[in-house]
Amino acid sequence: MRHLMSPLDFTVDELEELFKLANDIEANHEKYSEKCHGKKLATCFYEPSTRTRLSFESAMINLGGSVIGFSDANSSSAAKGESVSDTIRVISCFADICAMRHPKEGAPMVAASKSSIPVINAGDGGHQHPTQTLTDLLTIRSLRGNIKDFTIGLCGDLKFGRTVHSLINALMRYPGIKFIFISPPELKVPDYITSALEEKGIEYKEVISLDEVMSELDFLYMTRVQRERFFNEEDYVRLKDFYILNKDKMAIAKDDMLVLHPLPRVNEISVDVDDDPRAAYFKQVQYGVYVRMALILTLLELV
Ligand code: NCD
Repeated sequence: MRHLMSPLDFTVDELEELFKLANDIEANHEKYSEKCHGKKLATCFYEPSTRTRLSFESAMINLGGSVIGFSDANSSSAAKGESVSDTIRVISCFADICAMRHPKEGAPMVAASKSSIPVINAGDGGHQHPTQTLTDLLTIRSLRGNIKDFTIGLCGDLKFGRTVHSLINALMRYPGIKFIFISPPELKVPDYITSALEEKGIEYKEVISLDEVMSELDFLYMTRVQRERFFNEEDYVRLKDFYILNKDKMAIAKDDMLVLHPLPRVNEISVDVDDDPRAAYFKQVQYGVYVRMALILTLLELV
C-alpha cells in the first residue's frame, strides 16, 4: 500500500506515468467515469480549504466513487480530543482512501503510519502540499510540453508557503531549472531548501524586487502571504501587499511567460491580469482535478 506525503514519494518516471494518465483522463472522460464505482474517499480537513477539498471530491465523483468526510476540525471528534492516529483507524473502516489536511506539520505522516488505507497529504502546516505540486507540474508540462530548461520565479511568502516548498523540492529533480526567489527578507525561503539547492549545484538567486527579474522569467509562481501562520497581525499587515502583479508589471515580462498561483488569491494579482493570455491560474485548477483523478486511480491500483 502506498501513501503520498511528499512529491518525492514518486520517482520522476512514476510522475511521468501519472501525468500521462491525467492527460488521458482529460481527453477521454467517459473511459474513467465508473473506475471507482463502489469506492469511497474520505476527506479529513482540519484546516480551511475550498479548492483542494472540492477538487478531491470532484475527482472521486468523476470516477464514479463517493465521498465522505469533514471540512472543519470542530465538527469532528478532534474537538473531543481524539488523536489523528485514532481517527485514521476509524476512517480506515469507512473508506478506501483518505485525503487529509492538518495545521500541524507531519500529522498526515502520523496518520499514514497507522492507516490501513492509502493516505494523501492534502497540506500539512507550512511543510508540504504534494497534490498542489502535482497540479503545478501537470500544468507546466501540459502548457509547455515538458518540464525542463526554464527559469521560474517564486514570489511572495516563501517562508510559510507550503506549496512553494513542495514545488521547489519536486523541480530540483528536473534538468535545467533555474530558480529565482522573490520575497521580502522576512519571508525568505527556508535555509534547508537553499542548502539542498547548493548541495545539488542547482542555480538560484534571491531578490527583493520583482521588476528587476521579471523579464528573465518563463514562469512566475505568485503566492499569498500566509496570514494564519504569522505570529502577529502587525507583521502580516506590513507585508501582505508587498507584491501586487498588475498590467504594468506584465508588460515587462516575456510574451510567453506563464503566471501560476495555487490560489486563493488575496491582493497579490490584480484582477486586470486575469484576461491576459499568460494568466494560467484558473487553468491550473482544472489540471488539479485531472491529476487527483490519476492519483486516486494509482493509489487504489485501478490502472
Ligand atoms: C494553498 C494551501 O492551502 O497551501 N491553497 C491550495 O491548496 N491551493 C495555498 C494557500 O492557501 O495560499
